[in-house]
Amino acid sequence: MCPRHGLCYSGAVARWIIIAALGLALVIALGAAGCGQKADEPNTIRLVAWKFNNPGLWRRLADQFERQHPPLRVALEIGPHSSTSFHDLLTQKLKNRSAEVDVFLMDVIWPPEFASAGWALPLDQLFDAGQRKRFVPAALEAASWRGRVYGAPLYLTAGVLYYRRDLLERYRLPVPQTWPQLVSQAKLIVAQDKSGLAGYSGQFKQYEGLVCDMLEFIWSAQGRALGPQGERCVLDRPAALKAVRFVRDALIGTAAPRGVLAYQEPESLSLFAQGGAVFMRNWFYAWPILSDSKRSQVAGKVGLAPLPRFSGGESASCLGGWQVGLSAYSKKPAQALKLIKFLTSETVQRRLALEEGLAPTRAALYQDPWVLKAHPHFAKLAPVLAGARPRPRTPLYPAVSEVMQVYFHRAISDSDSDLPELAGRAVQDIDRLLGLARGQ
Ligand code: GLC
Repeated sequence: MCPRHGLCYSGAVARWIIIAALGLALVIALGAAGCGQKADEPNTIRLVAWKFNNPGLWRRLADQFERQHPPLRVALEIGPHSSTSFHDLLTQKLKNRSAEVDVFLMDVIWPPEFASAGWALPLDQLFDAGQRKRFVPAALEAASWRGRVYGAPLYLTAGVLYYRRDLLERYRLPVPQTWPQLVSQAKLIVAQDKSGLAGYSGQFKQYEGLVCDMLEFIWSAQGRALGPQGERCVLDRPAALKAVRFVRDALIGTAAPRGVLAYQEPESLSLFAQGGAVFMRNWFYAWPILSDSKRSQVAGKVGLAPLPRFSGGESASCLGGWQVGLSAYSKKPAQALKLIKFLTSETVQRRLALEEGLAPTRAALYQDPWVLKAHPHFAKLAPVLAGARPRPRTPLYPAVSEVMQVYFHRAISDSDSDLPELAGRAVQDIDRLLGLARGQ
């Protein structure tokens, strides 16, 4: 333990190494004992999914699959909404070689880890050259590791700026192009409006979403997390520090309420949907929710734009999205593949686009008249998606992300934080992890 800060970065790294070692020991022990496998119904496919905004969604899809593929059944286990917590739940099962998972949802950041750990089977039989052409290139790239595809791409997303169109119009303000401009507009509107509005809402809790939000600030200041070859962390360089300092000094506790330090996607969305904020950073899927007067008090009053940048930088969005993977410990890979094919089919992706506003990974759906009619904003999203940037790609990404989460959260929570020192320690720890990953 670090005497001054509780668990320090080195502590976090050591914890990851211990967790990995224990996990490996358990896997060997279970393998040797031949235990950990439950007898299971031959026609039941177990799907482990994260908790989507629309809670009934997975069951409805499972029902549709069952109707089309008798006698197969889908047993559903819904995990937490947070990608970080869902990762913990799922990887625990996979480390135990659990037969309770056949098919699982996989965040775009996980294929290097899941492939290297041997948890996800390659899905090459679903992706011959003809099939590959049908997918948006960024989706397939995110699903691949060392030339093989480990996740069938389900949907893509990226960070965008939601703004109160009515308020910008009322105060005759343009859509902000830079972060400082956004902050000064937010302050002006909040001061004039006097209704207790917050200026900005986003995801600043210590979890994966914080990494996405912070990297967008850093990229748009021409900074980076890792050097161009991905071998060294450069979060201690001036551009990255400038972006983190801006979030600490100009957003947290000023344009954004301090409460955002505990916000994930649902809390940040709920504040904005209740009419409580002028600006919000969120993923694409917030749009249909905000446009629906049953779920949003600001329906018809919201605009959507690329995220702002710093002067001299360019707007940058983090690439997000989910894929469907096949467990290496599944006893029913053939049946499981049927479910994976179904979930990522054009029909289901069209349904997800129409009903949930999820951006498809199948290229044809961007020309689909129904989809475009229901969601004309997809035309605006396509270029944002095309330019969206991936988070660092390494088998040790969860550990790298945890160091970033601790660093970012500590840096922006305390207005006196020593940024160069905190960044320096994060860089040291991430460099050690990258070194370990190279040795794998
Ligand atoms: C969304 C994105 C996912 C990201 C997560 C972070 O679920 O699709 O890629 O990791 O948000 O909170």
